Amino acid sequence: MIEISNLSKSFPSPGGEEKVNVFSGVNFVLEQGESVAILGPSGSGKSTLLNVIGLLDKPTSGKILVGEKDLSSLSEREVAEYRNQKVGFVFQSHHLLPSCTVLENVMIPALAGFGKLTKDTLRNRAATLLEEVGLGHRMSHLPSQISGGERQRVAVARALINEPSVLLADEPTGALDKKNSDKLMNLLKQMNEGKGVTLLMVTHSTEGANLMKQAYHFHEGSLLQDR
Ligand SMILES: Nc1ncnc2c1ncn2[C@@H]1O[C@H](COP(=O)(O)OP(=O)(O)OP(=O)(O)O)[C@@H](O)[C@H]1O
Ligand SMILES: [Mg+2]
Repeated sequence: MIEISNLSKSFPSPGGEEKVNVFSGVNFVLEQGESVAILGPSGSGKSTLLNVIGLLDKPTSGKILVGEKDLSSLSEREVAEYRNQKVGFVFQSHHLLPSCTVLENVMIPALAGFGKLTKDTLRNRAATLLEEVGLGHRMSHLPSQISGGERQRVAVARALINEPSVLLADEPTGALDKKNSDKLMNLLKQMNEGKGVTLLMVTHSTEGANLMKQAYHFHEGSLLQDR
């Protein structure tokens, strides 16, 4: 469903004298319902690839097709709609709003104006997602009143509120201890298998990567498939 061909990304260097080439010649197909791990050393381009797929950044060259659509041909509104409706992001750090409750945090992406849910339906959906991630008993807590592992689970629920077809997770367990990390990995896997959400996850954990059906790694600017 997402087909990437000959993708490259470079950044201008801060001094402007030469470019930083992050990756080039990246070809990659992400089928609906797949689970894929992206590995590679620090600075190898993992986050950059996720950002480009999630339209948080633009590739330097190459093509990304989603279904039949070329992402480079989208209007500004379509880009915003794609980011809000088609993909869900879970980052290394949760980025929850500190003054909103857990339930409100989960509801926020659905308030952007692309969906057409009534407030009640939305509230029920957010509550159901929080039950699914094991946080039914923490809905009116603030982010500061729950644990780090719980905050990451709220971030997963928030990423799923608009029923995206793809979940992009950038080291979602990076800030967690082993026990919470295992729990979150299993939760993501469960969302993938139970809901059919396509899962693309950057991780440094071999164990986490092994839960994914496919694995790739970056090596010197190329994306190589391991399995
Ligand atoms: N906005 C930017 N301007 C210039 N260079 C950038 C920018 N963003 C990233 N880079 C460079 O691109 C390279 C890849 O960065 P990226 O964040 O994708 O790495 P990563 O594989 O996610 O690393 P990590 O495991 O540490 O998160 C790095 O060398 C970085 O310096
Ligand atoms: Mg990164």
